[in-house]
Amino acid sequence: MMFACDSKVLFYIIFTLVSVCFAYVPQTDYDVIIIGGGPSGLSAASALSRVLRKVVLFDSGKYRNRVTRHMHDVIGNDHVEPPVFRAAARKQIAFYNVTTFVDQEVIKLENLDKDGFRATTSNGSYTARKVILGSGVKDDLPDTPGLQEAFGKGIFWCPWCDGFEHRNQSMGVLGELSDAFSSVKELHPTLNKDLRVYSNGTNTTAQRAKLDEKYKGWKKVFQTYNVTINNKPILNITRVQDGATNFNGATRQEFDLFRIYFRDNSSELRGAFIANYNTSQASDLPAQLGVGMLGSKMNTTGRGLETTVAGVYGVGDANSENTTNVPHAMSSGKKAAVFAHVKMAGEELDRDIGASKRAADLDERSLHKNAEKDMGNEIMDLYRKLRRNIK
Ligand SMILES: Cc1cc2nc3c(=O)[nH]c(=O)nc-3n(C[C@H](O)[C@H](O)[C@H](O)COP(=O)(O)OP(=O)(O)OC[C@H]3O[C@@H](n4cnc5c(N)ncnc54)[C@H](O)[C@@H]3O)c2cc1C
Ligand SMILES: *[C@@H]1O[C@H](CO)[C@@H](O)[C@H](O)[C@H]1NC(C)=O
Ligand SMILES: *[C@@H]1O[C@H](CO)[C@@H](O)[C@H](O)[C@H]1NC(C)=O
Ligand SMILES: *[C@@H]1O[C@H](CO)[C@@H](O)[C@H](O)[C@H]1NC(C)=O
Ligand SMILES: *[C@@H]1O[C@H](CO)[C@@H](O)[C@H](O)[C@H]1NC(C)=O
Ligand SMILES: *[C@@H]1O[C@H](CO)[C@@H](O)[C@H](O)[C@H]1NC(C)=O
Ligand SMILES: *[C@@H]1O[C@H](CO)[C@@H](O)[C@H](O)[C@H]1NC(C)=O
Ligand SMILES: *[C@@H]1O[C@H](CO)[C@@H](O)[C@H](O)[C@H]1NC(C)=O
Ligand SMILES: *[C@@H]1O[C@H](CO)[C@@H](O)[C@H](O)[C@H]1NC(C)=O
Ligand SMILES: *[C@@H]1O[C@H](CO)[C@@H](O)[C@H](O)[C@H]1NC(C)=O
Ligand SMILES: *[C@@H]1O[C@H](CO)[C@@H](O)[C@H](O)[C@H]1NC(C)=O
Ligand SMILES: *[C@@H]1O[C@H](CO)[C@@H](O)[C@H](O)[C@H]1NC(C)=O
Repeated sequence: MMFACDSKVLFYIIFTLVSVCFAYVPQTDYDVIIIGGGPSGLSAASALSRVLRKVVLFDSGKYRNRVTRHMHDVIGNDHVEPPVFRAAARKQIAFYNVTTFVDQEVIKLENLDKDGFRATTSNGSYTARKVILGSGVKDDLPDTPGLQEAFGKGIFWCPWCDGFEHRNQSMGVLGELSDAFSSVKELHPTLNKDLRVYSNGTNTTAQRAKLDEKYKGWKKVFQTYNVTINNKPILNITRVQDGATNFNGATRQEFDLFRIYFRDNSSELRGAFIANYNTSQASDLPAQLGVGMLGSKMNTTGRGLETTVAGVYGVGDANSENTTNVPHAMSSGKKAAVFAHVKMAGEELDRDIGASKRAADLDERSLHKNAEKDMGNEIMDLYRKLRRNIK
């Protein structure tokens, strides 16, 4: 390699050597930039606040569950309105006085390498050492008239979200035929016996082959449970009754009612629908940083939910754990926060003490032990790796 004469390269080599001996901690406005004020970002902010990390959390407020009436299956917060939940979380985080909330969209997110990261909003720029992306996903719903307006209000995508409120009602299954079987499997045993699939013209050889792949016996199941298929092209879904005003508060049943119209002008009545459509990244910030993807999700198979970009973590719906609910969002936010904190702590130790001295001066063993207890064995490996890099 013949680039050693270039002074820039020389500087870089010296810098790298120096930073390997005395790990470099860049001067930044904040320790961590968090993108997103949904449950994943808030949870990360909470965990970082409690160890007094300086955090700036950006939130453009387009929460995935903004259309829902109530949030369910979040223990301690069941049947709570999401804005109430988020406001309580913010208040709790604000108590620690170390998280700054900026309710603006980050339009540019840059990797400054050794100097950390820079987020830019219409108001200005903010730098930090690490980034936690809790930027969420969006539901790619068809523009069929009536569907988007009813999403989260009688038309829902997950049995845990609103299934209980619509139990024992006539239920339609929307989306491609190949996705219908999993809905039937989840709903039929306990929530809804009256199931009808609205496959909207997708009763094709390819779709049936996909179903066969998932479960060869699907036809038999449909027959046994009297799950019927209407394959007519859908024209629209018209609300007949609103469960927000027609409900039983004591049993929490919500009585929505819809008339689904087909292109041939025929129609049928259904109490509720389960909708199988895809999601995609809500934000282009992962792409701006060049985060590697697995399908439509950020590849977060790295330690502590780190992405393929060092120092950038992916949490919540947008990450490749592929679990999209509030408890997962919270648990992943917490996990990334713990790893980011410990990683920064390691960098600070190396800066302050230096690698060779550190081993002698510090009772590392007890430090490791505690971190391990807090978050599992992976932390131990992380410390080992950090130490190896410096030696
Ligand atoms: C209709 C519906 C009902 C649901 N009901 C339930 C339920 O009952 N129980 C349950 O557990 N789960 C439910 N979910 C799932 C739940 O909403 C998600 O799992 C959860 O919101 C994921 O949290 P998150 O933090 O990953 O993303 P989100 O809550 O979507 O938050 C992402 C945030 O990032 C912000 N953001 C993105 N890009 C930027 C940027 N560039 N700058 C600044 N901010 C940015 C967005 O504006 C948004 O505020 C439901 C989902 C839907 C669609
Ligand atoms: C946070 O700041 C406020 C206002 O300065 C102060 O009253 C409060 O005691 C601080 N809280 C903590 C936990 O330090
Ligand atoms: C952005 O700047 C405007 C104008 O200076 C100010 O009023 C507003 O509070 C700022 N917003 C944030 C989130 O900092
Ligand atoms: C029905 O299929 C058409 C044609 O593929 C598509 O444009 C539309 O979005 C689908 N509607 C629903 C409700 O799935
Ligand atoms: C759906 O189509 C029917 C029949 O054409 C019409 O009466 C109804 O208003 C339409 N609903 C929506 C939401 O477009
Ligand atoms: C289910 O609904 C049917 C018809 O509406 C009703 O007769 C039946 O009592 C309901 N069952 C339960 C368990 O609520
Ligand atoms: C089976 O479902 C169809 C259509 O939903 C309905 O008309 C029929 O009565 C059901 N049969 C039984 C035995 O429940
Ligand atoms: C779906 O397609 C199969 C194979 O062509 C056919 O036997 C079946 O009747 C169709 N069902 C519906 C509801 O269109
Ligand atoms: C459906 O109804 C509309 C309005 O009544 C009419 O214009 C249209 O021709 C009908 N379509 C079919 C396929 O019958
Ligand atoms: C969802 O994505 C898969 C994979 O890209 C695709 O095959 C399928 O058609 C999509 N489903 C819908 C309803 O668009
Ligand atoms: C999540 O989905 C992607 C794309 O299908 C896949 O590559 C990845 O392995 C999945 N993750 C898990 C934990 O199953
Ligand atoms: C996902 O990320 C891990 C760790 O960063 C990496 O080893 C792996 O190759 C990535 N997977 C893909 C399919 O890019």
